[in-house]
Amino acid sequence: MKLSEEQLQQFDELGYVMLPDLFDPAEIAAVTADLPRIYAMDRPEVWRESTGVVRTAFAAHHYSEPFALIGKHPRLVEPVKQLLGGDVYIHQYKINAKAAFDGDVWQWHQDYGTWARDDAMPEPRAMNIALFLDDVTEFNGPLWIMPGSHKQGVFEAGHDLATTSYPLWTLDKQTIAELANTHGIFSAKGRAGSVLMFHSNIVHASSPNIGPWGRTIVYLSLCHVDNHIRQFKREEWIAHRDFTPVQSAPDDCLKSYAAGQVAAE
Ligand code: SIN
Ligand code: MN
Repeated sequence: MKLSEEQLQQFDELGYVMLPDLFDPAEIAAVTADLPRIYAMDRPEVWRESTGVVRTAFAAHHYSEPFALIGKHPRLVEPVKQLLGGDVYIHQYKINAKAAFDGDVWQWHQDYGTWARDDAMPEPRAMNIALFLDDVTEFNGPLWIMPGSHKQGVFEAGHDLATTSYPLWTLDKQTIAELANTHGIFSAKGRAGSVLMFHSNIVHASSPNIGPWGRTIVYLSLCHVDNHIRQFKREEWIAHRDFTPVQSAPDDCLKSYAAGQVAAE
């Protein structure tokens, strides 16, 4: 799958592209069927909110067959290779649960701000591609993005170790107010199966989920192989050290996986 000229231009100008309904309901069901097993795991990669519900399951491609397929799915990997101009490896892999009622805030930040400061990634030649596993609406904490904010480099940030269970380099309120007045805010909503790609310098956040519906999104943070991280301060399952290029799986891999599951029953 290749992005069109129009999509490439939008990515350059706004720093994001939405790809609605890229995966069908059967493909999404094949993946979400493994979530209860993953969320019940007692392992360090499964990070919890202060209330105990799952916030993020890191590196799920290492312990879940369908999530491993997501990590090499051509509809996710190929557009990023196109944008970054070559082979990519998985820098970070996370399932963000944003649970009904208890899913907590992600403060305003830039991903490359963290990757540069914590992992010594040389350049913002890495980006996120996010697959919605639930319908994402105004009621369950959609991602808020400031269109065009990726053009201004890395902003000053403070290391927030207190607000949520997960440490993050966050931007101050004055910077956010100024950026919002200039750029506005885009709320990334869409049906399950939709995909959002965004530049690693784009300023983004999401509010707590006080609604009765969960908002599961899986994020692949893919980095050009030449731009691999130089510093190994964080856990390996948060900032990976295996820089092997991702080899795309066949386009129908989730369908084949689901058929295999049915045959085994
Ligand atoms: C992130 O910014 O890395 C995650 C935000 C979210 O899932 O709401
Ligand atoms: Mn982020």
